[in-house]
Amino acid sequence: MEEDDIEAVVDVLRSDYLTQGPRIREFEDSLTSYCGTRFAVCFSSGTAALHGAYFAAGLCNNDEIITSPMTFIATANAALFLGARPIFADIEPDTGNIDVDLIEPAITKKTRAIVPVHFAGHPVELEKAAKLAKKHGLILIEDACHALGAQYRDINISNCKYSDMAVFSFHPVKAITTGEGGAVLSNDENFYKKLITFRHHGVTKECEAFQKRKEDCGKWYYEMQYLGYNYRLSDIHCALGISQLKKLDKFVQKRREIADKYSSAFKCNDFFDIPVERSYVKSAWHLYPIRLKDKFKSCKAEIFSELRERGSAAQSTRRSYKASAALCSSVSLASKAIVLAAPFRNITTEVP
Ligand SMILES: Cc1ncc(COP(=O)(O)O)c(C=O)c1O
Repeated sequence: MEEDDIEAVVDVLRSDYLTQGPRIREFEDSLTSYCGTRFAVCFSSGTAALHGAYFAAGLCNNDEIITSPMTFIATANAALFLGARPIFADIEPDTGNIDVDLIEPAITKKTRAIVPVHFAGHPVELEKAAKLAKKHGLILIEDACHALGAQYRDINISNCKYSDMAVFSFHPVKAITTGEGGAVLSNDENFYKKLITFRHHGVTKECEAFQKRKEDCGKWYYEMQYLGYNYRLSDIHCALGISQLKKLDKFVQKRREIADKYSSAFKCNDFFDIPVERSYVKSAWHLYPIRLKDKFKSCKAEIFSELRERGSAAQSTRRSYKASAALCSSVSLASKAIVLAAPFRNITTEVP
């Protein structure tokens, strides 16, 4: 946190609105201008934003989404919230992203959405995923929680040129933070309207949206049109987000420099494979995931403990989603990938 971030929050604390005030719209406008999207709706977390996106996509009981097993549990859980079932298509070993060629065989009559995750900040092959979604009449939702600041074919991730909606998280480990927080971006006004009401108890005060009592427009009357939640993000969080977003490019640039250092240092090692960056993407390097070579896979736990003891903030990434088989499709081959992820926070590029 820098002084201007702190001041931005303090300004809100001194203002008339701690929540439901002007900073929310301001943050949403900053997100749409950064990403080049028409609409943004902030949520209280990335998980809440995924829930909102799945609701707006119309997911309900017994529907299926196809997603990646290499992700945080929230990607799949948010579908379960609506009674839908996550089906996993396996990953590409080098990027850790869903292998788009494996999505089509997983499509059934129940499939409603495809949800690729830009794992570690490396964009998924979106153009191919979009063609597939179009061919089968499916909704494409990017879980972009790792990828704010990344680019795919010179377009900012979450620009929604290829997808229907894209979801961010602003948890402190992400590229920018609001403490807790998330957002859904979209170019579709219908999705936008659903997201706005879903985040606020399913309630609307917009006269033109009223289903009954249109004559009470402008009076006390409001309508709860479906069961929604209190998933609002406060002005305090949004003020921090506005301040942080101004520095996003600087943050991503620093991550890219650190990733370059890791890549040149580890290029020829005998122990693990380093991550790739495809020529047509710019990764946001949320993580630097390394894959242990086969002969060391059985030693993962020891390597992990040793790294931690030596002060490295290594993490073992989510290998795969392991919920009840009754709720999800079987665990994918991705569970065989053994990944350690080096983070970027508090790491400098200067040699001590
Ligand atoms: C890929 C992915 N999706 C969704 C989430 C959920 O975001 P949040 O923690 O803001 O709820 C995370 C959080 O780590 C994530 O990594």
